[in-house]
Amino acid sequence: MEKIIDEKKQGESLVTEQKKQNTRKLYIESYGCQMNFSDSEIVASILANEGFNTTQTLEEADLVLVNTCSIREKAELTVRKRLEKFNAVKRINPNMKVGVLGCMAERLKNKFLEEEKIVDMVVGPDAYKDLPNLVREIDEGRNAVNVILSKEETYGDVAPVRLNSNGVSAFVSITRGCDNMCTFCVVPFTRGRERSRNPQSILEEVNDLWEKGFKEITLLGQNVDSYLWYGGGLKKDFDKASEMQKATSVNFAGLLAMVAIAHPKMRIRFSTSNPQDMTLDVIETMSKHNNICKYIHLPIQSGSNRILKEMNRLHTREEYFELIDNIRKIIPDCAISQDMITGFPTETEQDHRDTLSLMEYVKYDFGFMFAYSERPGTLAARKMKDDVPQEVKKRRLTEIINLQQQHGLYRTRQHLGKIEEVLIEGNSKKSNRHWMGRNTQNTVVVFPKENYKVGDFVNVKITDCTAATLIGEAVGYSENN
Ligand code: SAH
Ligand code: F3S
Repeated sequence: MEKIIDEKKQGESLVTEQKKQNTRKLYIESYGCQMNFSDSEIVASILANEGFNTTQTLEEADLVLVNTCSIREKAELTVRKRLEKFNAVKRINPNMKVGVLGCMAERLKNKFLEEEKIVDMVVGPDAYKDLPNLVREIDEGRNAVNVILSKEETYGDVAPVRLNSNGVSAFVSITRGCDNMCTFCVVPFTRGRERSRNPQSILEEVNDLWEKGFKEITLLGQNVDSYLWYGGGLKKDFDKASEMQKATSVNFAGLLAMVAIAHPKMRIRFSTSNPQDMTLDVIETMSKHNNICKYIHLPIQSGSNRILKEMNRLHTREEYFELIDNIRKIIPDCAISQDMITGFPTETEQDHRDTLSLMEYVKYDFGFMFAYSERPGTLAARKMKDDVPQEVKKRRLTEIINLQQQHGLYRTRQHLGKIEEVLIEGNSKKSNRHWMGRNTQNTVVVFPKENYKVGDFVNVKITDCTAATLIGEAVGYSENN
């Protein structure tokens, strides 16, 4: 054990030494999902070994990387706009190189180089270990592209460099890719097939975060409930695994319990869950361990069985209600949030009313709601006409956002008068005399600072609320502190 610690210390001092010697500057910007932000930390780590330290100042960068999102057209347009800005900076600093990472890189491949002259390098989400070679290529004046998707890559052996970290909470990725093939979604095409990361390397990363003073981790995956480690390889090849591999495999409930037991004073969150893959086992594991936060992000996309089928969501509205009922039975105070899409092809007013009535049933704590955006190459784009007029999509979106607002307020009001444990993350957005943190349900709580500090677990009495925020006063440290 001592030897391992020694080696690790040595490793760390090597990294620090390396950072001191690094002379080139990397500016990295991330868009889209949490996984992209987590990936950028992996990229920063790989490039730290290649002589790059990160900078927050675009103008002084030698290498500018933008980690992109393709989920909706708007996300792609945002990136194109940023490239215009980078172009303006490049006119002043012609030696600056620009690379595009992530889902847009994977979707557009070589086409990116033709469409955006400023881009020198295109790298897909599974090719980051090739960055040292790709950077050498662009250093020598050639364009560089690697968009090969992998069956194994999980970056389990890369220790992320924490970027823009509050030192309190961190992302730990546990699965990559998605096999679900929802017909509207571009992710299976840009992030490839589902594979899980070795639980040992996950635990090591969490141990390291704990030693560095982090208090909360979020286990990340496109579909965390489908986590399955059987020695490596694609989830879909599990059937071909040996009996031994099957017998010693670890599923998501197993992984959650493992992490929760290893670090009883650390808060554990996870995202995202898919209704069809979430098991009772996971819900029971959550209720057994106090440090697993009582919050589930459980996207459904639509309340209409017909639309769910067209979306290939592989579960019905009734099955979803059963899952919600089970969650409420096993964890009565669990918060639940949603993702919804309005205006999927063929959606009628009746389908839309089904979505509203589903929301009435669940009364989500919060939600992320979007108008359908057709993505090239997806099954919906190939087989269905994007036939709901923009103004109808928008009107339906406004209706579900308004309803969510009412439900948010209904949920936050349930916290009034209670004393809840809050982990302090930083200054409140509105006032630097107040701290901002979250309760176990992931609801933001704001309260006067007094003598508490970032990273403290504090008991807060909730005295007021809005639809999304709880307001209160600290009554002392919690026993977790
Ligand atoms: N499982 C993933 C889902 C990623 S996409 C996760 O880890 O969160 C996030 C959300 O974007 C989806 O749940 C869906 O509501 C929305 N979305 C995906 N594709 C979309 C599209 N083509 N148009 C509009 N919204 C979309
Ligand atoms: Fe996308 Fe559906 Fe997977 S929304 S990420 S294909 S679960």
